[in-house]
Amino acid sequence: MKKKIIIANWKMNYNFYDTTHFLRHLLKFFNHEKEIEKNHQKIIIAPSYPFLHISNQIVQGTNIHIAAQNIHDMEKGSYTGEVSAIMLKSIGINNVILGHSERRTYFNETNKILLEKIYIALKNRLKIIFCIGETLNERNNNKQFISIQKQLEQTIFICSVKEIENFIIAYEPIWAIGTGEVPYYHEVQKMHNHIRLLFKNKYGKFVSDKIHIVYGGSITELNCKEFFKQKDVDGGLVGNSSLNINKFLSIIKAS
Ligand code: PGA
Repeated sequence: MKKKIIIANWKMNYNFYDTTHFLRHLLKFFNHEKEIEKNHQKIIIAPSYPFLHISNQIVQGTNIHIAAQNIHDMEKGSYTGEVSAIMLKSIGINNVILGHSERRTYFNETNKILLEKIYIALKNRLKIIFCIGETLNERNNNKQFISIQKQLEQTIFICSVKEIENFIIAYEPIWAIGTGEVPYYHEVQKMHNHIRLLFKNKYGKFVSDKIHIVYGGSITELNCKEFFKQKDVDGGLVGNSSLNINKFLSIIKAS
């Protein structure tokens, strides 16, 4: 069976103390719960930039990995306030979230810009958690499948088969992020299956079987089990519920 991947996206929430305290708590839990370790889930935590280095040091040698929440689309230069893939690699960071709807909406990240970021990330050997999702309007007009296909075609699908190994796909309906509203579980399964099929048509069965497609959008400790039961759901990208250690641990246990 495929390893489930549980990703915590802390967004712009935790400070230094919260970050280090949470990670130490998480490690303590893993040390005690041999059962969980046996299940071999992969845990990825995305703290804010200033705490990536210390976070990486804390989780060194464990099954917990650290991801950045963004990179700039250039490697270096006069871009005040920005952080590059090269900088992240220099502190041992190997993962980055790209395409999150908050970045697309508040920072005008188009598919074109995201493709540039993908190139820079791959060039610097960063693994990419790539978010895709439809708006409520698209969903209401039954355009969710075509919207997802377009997002893939204009970004990831320009990559080679070899490069695809570096991606985790996060399907996140935009209307479900931070709202407490979630799609029906069977709808999530249908979309994940659709995404897998698009990968199969483009790259073949080996790739489509292997790629991890996680669900994100108002996952809680109460609903996560049902999501994880769906055949094509390979884990979760968790926002709000990842900010509470007990809720997050329940989600890990359920996976
Ligand atoms: P949420 O966020 O769990 O708070 O809905 C998910 C996300 O933004 O990735």
